Amino acid sequence: MTDSSSPVIKFNKVSKYYMAGGTRVTALKAVDMELHAGDFVTVMGPSGGGKTTLLNCIGGLDAPDAGEIFLNDRLISKMSDRELTQLRRKEIGFVFQFFNLMPTLTIWENVELPLLLSHSSRTSDERIRTLLEYVGLQNRARSFPAELSGGEMQRVAIARALVHQPAIILADEPTGNLDSENGVKILELMKKVSVEFQTTLVVVTHNPQIADYGNCHFEIRDGELKNKNREDRI
Ligand SMILES: Nc1ncnc2c1ncn2[C@@H]1O[C@H](COP(=O)(O)OP(=O)(O)O)[C@@H](O)[C@H]1O
Ligand SMILES: [Mg+2]
Repeated sequence: MTDSSSPVIKFNKVSKYYMAGGTRVTALKAVDMELHAGDFVTVMGPSGGGKTTLLNCIGGLDAPDAGEIFLNDRLISKMSDRELTQLRRKEIGFVFQFFNLMPTLTIWENVELPLLLSHSSRTSDERIRTLLEYVGLQNRARSFPAELSGGEMQRVAIARALVHQPAIILADEPTGNLDSENGVKILELMKKVSVEFQTTLVVVTHNPQIADYGNCHFEIRDGELKNKNREDRI
């Protein structure tokens, strides 16, 4: 735990509202939160509690209606869509419940895609090879997503999320579509990533066993975020 360092992500009284059927729904209610490098953060809570909204605000996919969000000391809650797109491509990795791989691209090309989108000048071949090895899929580089199991597809998604060396990886129910054995493997891989790459991981889950993998636990319901290990953090 590195509480003395400045946080990777800081929320300052962040609120988000949606209009639904003429009534205002509060998806986030004055949320304060700090996440640090290498934190493995789990977010639990009932459906509709605000989990996805929280991730979308961290990842700049959604802008808050009130409050401030900082990523590495930069105020992102007021950035333009263009700036946010750049930021996402360079500094944030996403992992989804349904993997969201491109079906017409090979595994290698899927992992390469974020580098192409961000016009990265980094020599990419070595990095892609290393990451495919890291997730144990070096022999599947030329396969297509449909030829892989769910667990393998999610490992590709993790390699893709890591390829541009993001400060933070956001995962919305990453094991929700896997059996428990593969779910555990994915969580173990994520744990390894957070330790070895010092990447901050934020994982939304319904499963309390999965939440055990984290070192920093939050619960969100009705838009209110509670830290479940208050002794460590705010
Ligand atoms: N685009 C939207 N339009 C209207 N209401 C939304 C929208 N997105 C989320 N909400 C509402 O905001 C609340 C939080 O949703 P969400 O963050 O998706 O919760 P969770 O991921 O925990 O299930 C819910 O009441 C949901 O109905
Ligand atoms: Mg959700």
